[in-house]
Amino acid sequence: MGKVFITGATGYIGGEVLHQVATLRPNVKISALNRDSAKASILRKAYPDIEIIPGDLDNTEVIENEAKGADVVLHLASTNHIGSARAILKGLSGPSRKHPGYWLQMSGATMVAAAEIKEGRYGEASDKSYDDFHDDESVRSLITANPTRAVDNLVIAQEDSVVRTALIAGPCIHGKGDGPVNQRSIQAPEIARLTLERKKGFRLGKGQNVWGNVHIHDLGRLFVALLDAALAGDSQVWNQNGLYFPENGKLSFGELYSAIAKEAVEQKFIETTDLDEITAAEANQMSTHAAAIWGTNAILTSSRAQAQLKWKPCGTALLDEIPDLIKSEAKRLGYA
Ligand SMILES: NC(=O)c1ccc[n+]([C@@H]2O[C@H](COP(=O)([O-])OP(=O)(O)OC[C@H]3O[C@@H](n4cnc5c(N)ncnc54)[C@H](OP(=O)(O)O)[C@@H]3O)[C@@H](O)[C@H]2O)c1
Repeated sequence: MGKVFITGATGYIGGEVLHQVATLRPNVKISALNRDSAKASILRKAYPDIEIIPGDLDNTEVIENEAKGADVVLHLASTNHIGSARAILKGLSGPSRKHPGYWLQMSGATMVAAAEIKEGRYGEASDKSYDDFHDDESVRSLITANPTRAVDNLVIAQEDSVVRTALIAGPCIHGKGDGPVNQRSIQAPEIARLTLERKKGFRLGKGQNVWGNVHIHDLGRLFVALLDAALAGDSQVWNQNGLYFPENGKLSFGELYSAIAKEAVEQKFIETTDLDEITAAEANQMSTHAAAIWGTNAILTSSRAQAQLKWKPCGTALLDEIPDLIKSEAKRLGYA
């Protein structure tokens, strides 16, 4: 048994985590924040046992109250909404609590790319890589030096808190999710969509930058492993031991752009594998925050989850997903 409060359940990440928790841990009681009544019906139909909590991230009283009643909060709706993060912390630290509360916070890999973003360096190679176990201290320094990462800073400030925290920084997450509403990620699907729409592939700058990547099913499995640790009362995998970079491979964006164009040719949606070189400004016009998420380096390595939680990623590799990605984006665009 155990009670979980989840945000972002209609999203790509939250939906996958909801699906895995609801199906693999049926005794866990789940409540889910929801701001959209049509999507609430879909959630209820897919998972009749979950409790829908109407509200959005700005309804901090609702969030604090739900956190108060939960053993574990999975905050997957946003990496940077500070009001909801503070409300979760407050709810989980209440004096009436008999057992420690757990806060699992989704974050993003651009936490290690602040300098490149600030200096406008996109598409360039980097020799900086970060292992979540061995480079823990330097990652924490990057976060504390960057006050714009307000939620990350709040989480890592809880080193000695009664609240047990995990900060999970997603790299390039790929694959079709199993959630009830959004099953589509952002980075690779947007490159595929635009390649199909423009009838030609493209590359931001030289495309020499590299990101780690992980399959959405593996990411979901990590959340289940963390949930199990929380409900078992494991005290060792949180706070100062609670920074996770789930990852199962690394790829340069140059290789990704090329593989997408090549597969689009293969499936006869475009005629050339040549790529246009675009600027950061053009990228941002093509897709939201594109320069930051296509053009930077986030060379992250996962060691901690394997060591502490026996997590073993086994999902399909990113390059092996490209044929399905092209098919699904073409279908979404009505081309197939
Ligand atoms: N996808 C990736 O590769 C990736 C990697 C690392 C980090 N992230 C970050 O992780 C977070 C979730 O990503 P995602 O891919 O799952 O996004 P998504 O598919 O767009 O889902 C976002 C979820 O959060 C909910 N939400 C957003 N703003 C809300 C608000 N103000 N009040 C209540 N609910 C709200 C959405 O509800 P509605 O359905 O009502 O809109 C949806 O359930 C984002 O911050 C994203 O930047 C994503």
